[in-house]
Amino acid sequence: MKISIAGTGYVGLVTAVCLAEIGHNVTCVDIDEKKIGILNEGRSPIYEPGLEELMVKNKERLTFTTDYKNAYKDTDVIFIAVGTPEKKDGSANLQYVFGVTKQIAESIQQDCIIVVKSTVPVGTNDKVERVLRENLKKDVHVEVASNPEFLSQGTAVKDTLNANRIVIGVETKYAEEVLRKVYDGFGLPYVITDRRSAEMIKYASNDFLALKISYINEIANLCEIVGANIEDVAKGMGMDPRIGDKFLKAGIGYGGSCFPKDTKALNWLANFNDYELKTIKAAIEVNENQKIKLIKKARKYYDNFSGLNVAVLGLTFKPGTDDLREAPSLQNIPILLEDGANIKAWDPVGIENYKKIYPKEIKYCNTIEETIKGADICFIFTEWPEINKFDISLFSKLMKYPLILDGRNCYDLEKVKKAKIIYESVGRNTVNNLLEK
Ligand code: UDX
Repeated sequence: MKISIAGTGYVGLVTAVCLAEIGHNVTCVDIDEKKIGILNEGRSPIYEPGLEELMVKNKERLTFTTDYKNAYKDTDVIFIAVGTPEKKDGSANLQYVFGVTKQIAESIQQDCIIVVKSTVPVGTNDKVERVLRENLKKDVHVEVASNPEFLSQGTAVKDTLNANRIVIGVETKYAEEVLRKVYDGFGLPYVITDRRSAEMIKYASNDFLALKISYINEIANLCEIVGANIEDVAKGMGMDPRIGDKFLKAGIGYGGSCFPKDTKALNWLANFNDYELKTIKAAIEVNENQKIKLIKKARKYYDNFSGLNVAVLGLTFKPGTDDLREAPSLQNIPILLEDGANIKAWDPVGIENYKKIYPKEIKYCNTIEETIKGADICFIFTEWPEINKFDISLFSKLMKYPLILDGRNCYDLEKVKKAKIIYESVGRNTVNNLLEK
């Protein structure tokens, strides 16, 4: 079976490499010549554990090209895996999806199935089919199927090879059979449905997880007020299988390329159809406030941050990725800079991307020790394992004033109680060992 994939982002590239792993020949198409150049050198343009190794292992079955005409002309299945970024009004920008659809229509010379993997609003697959048929240059049979992706950055390869389900939205038995041939090698369970339901499964899943995070964050905020401990509360809740223990980690809000965009897109879709999605609207609002929660807490100690030495640990939106999209650090650092703070920052993989935004304004450090040395305050924005493992006693030894604002609850409160620090986290009591001593 010959497969082509439009778009070599997280979804496109990971899908391509995993399909090659189960024996398919896959051609990856991207307009970005630099990216294709890197891929042809056997390197991955994105930081994703295990991806490059699997890419090199399956290099005989993988082709990378910018020549879409050749790639699409004689292929059995074409995946569309291009981005659907957020527009100013919160709706999904579909220009790349339709741009690729036109290129496919102009290029294909044999019957084929077009599979939409990009996250698209309900009804988009129907429009893709219409655009395809209007622009076809040859009399061939084409069908469109929806096949959303549920991979997480940082564990994308594992998530794809061991997915909980493969969702296939089709309008004919023929399209279902072709997609089963593509995926049978994974040996995973299928959910076969119509295209609109498949499109909705993706949004409803992502938005449910975002909702779960905003819910636990609100409970965490209330825990702080009434003196309860969110870690214990979440543990007690999560042991009920009807609730489940995943996505109950309180913190400074969800970021990344999916949750912020997909909650806004579903909210937009509801509004567009004169329906108010109250739960999702609330989840969005809670998340926006949560992201600047630490700054608000820090203002209890300092009116403003002018001239202060500020240490920042963690820049990416979560551990395991160099992606900065919607990272809480990007909401907080501008506020600190505006006040005139001197910022030193550490992140194991995110610094190169951060330098593209703040080349000179921040001093980037190679170690946590160097970052916190002489600091008046330390913010933790990402729960990297290096931070979790860090010896807490070093905060008081190295910082000028050991005030730590932890947005990811990296440390056990019992251990914190033994250190000479002021420690503020999320949904837990403040530990102030400076006052007591
Ligand atoms: C998410 C979905 O998990 C995935 O299924 C979908 O295909 C794309 O979006 P991703 O954005 O890569 O994946 O990361 P994820 O691990 O889900 O985390 C998203 C955000 O939620 C991160 O900012 C993370 O810090 C936050 N989060 C997650 C919490 O704050 N608490 C949690 O309990 C879980």
